[in-house]
Amino acid sequence: MIDFSLSDEQKALQKLARDFSRKEIAPVALQYDKEPAFPGEIIKKAHAAGLMNLTCPKEYGGQGLGLVNAALITEEMTAACIAIAGMIGINSLACGPIVVGGSHEQKKKFLTPLNQSGKTASFGLTEREAGSDAGSLKTRVKLEGDHYVLNGQKCFITNASYAALYTIFATIDPSKGTKGICAFVVSRESPGLSIGKVEDKMGQRSLNVAEVILENVAVPRENRLGNEGEGFKFAMESLDEGRVNIAMCGVGLARAAFEIALAYAKTRVQFGKPIGTFQALNFMLADMAAAVDSARLLAWYAGSLADQGKRYTREAAQAKFYATDVAMRVTTDAVQVHGGYGYTKDYMVEKLMRDAKLTQIYEGTNQVNRMVAGGALMRG
Ligand code: CAA
Repeated sequence: MIDFSLSDEQKALQKLARDFSRKEIAPVALQYDKEPAFPGEIIKKAHAAGLMNLTCPKEYGGQGLGLVNAALITEEMTAACIAIAGMIGINSLACGPIVVGGSHEQKKKFLTPLNQSGKTASFGLTEREAGSDAGSLKTRVKLEGDHYVLNGQKCFITNASYAALYTIFATIDPSKGTKGICAFVVSRESPGLSIGKVEDKMGQRSLNVAEVILENVAVPRENRLGNEGEGFKFAMESLDEGRVNIAMCGVGLARAAFEIALAYAKTRVQFGKPIGTFQALNFMLADMAAAVDSARLLAWYAGSLADQGKRYTREAAQAKFYATDVAMRVTTDAVQVHGGYGYTKDYMVEKLMRDAKLTQIYEGTNQVNRMVAGGALMRG
């Protein structure tokens, strides 16, 4: 039997996240959209409530949750505001390479203080000329005595301006392609590390995204994760988890838009009847509900494979492109249900539609995720 019901523990996690999001995030979501700012106080509260560092092992100060349990929390937080939820949730991706590739000593040294303090981190893979083709990154690393030296520039780095530490990917030998890529933990305090342009974005306005500039940044040898050349694999494994998370962000956004549209369609009267009773909108609402439910199941399935210790690269990629395409479609339809009002900044659906667009782009464009899923199908 396949049982989709939640255990008491899962219901409690979901309720904790829902109550927190409704109290601390939803009331300020529009304000943070209009006036982008670092949601430092909300991050502090989320940390105190146990809603940060969800999948990081308990042994190192994280919540030690599996991906399905983390998904329940992500849906609730994202339904309130994906930008604020993203600033709270970024540590999972940023610390992924340490969890996947770090030694016990490195995890103790880097993860425990970060998790205990509630500070945040960033994942430094993307570069101007290496977005979808992440393996062609140009940031160079050289071993000089007892330390490595990093030179290069990262872009579109979530939370770059506020991170206490960065996981940075650099090549020791570009001729080796992905096999030359190494992963490092780099402290914010490192001389030579600076923040460049902060992006002014269409949506997810309070999600900080900026450049990280590395000029002769010295990094101790013991900050290298795994062996030289293993960095790309750590990045990809971290993105497997990240893509399940983004799928759930899509679900949260889409659910929020659907619920707002449904409530509006029940109360907005035209031609003497609630507009949701007209078949054109009634069918649209039915399609929206089906899309949200199916996206959620796809993401839970990918998460459940991860929780069983199975390879889930294809399923994570599928969930990511499917759920975020759903988010774009459902948020767009929610604007349509609202007519002219939906296109104004007085209504939340306008924000949700702008926010949704980025979910189709980050953590691998949906084209790249189709490539990952399609490639796995052909190999399998
Ligand atoms: N798990 C484990 N290993 C993996 C893997 C995975 N998921 N994916 C690839 N690998 C391994 C491969 O097996 C291969 O190893 P071998 O050579 O030993 O067989 C090696 O890594 C290289 O793999 P590919 O040949 O498939 O590499 P590629 O250069 O063709 O690239 C790609 C593949 C999937 C397109 C990859 O470049 C990719 O994912 N691109 C998108 C990058 C991305 O998602 N960026 C988002 C950054 S984060 C962000 O968006 C912002 C944020 O902060 C939120």
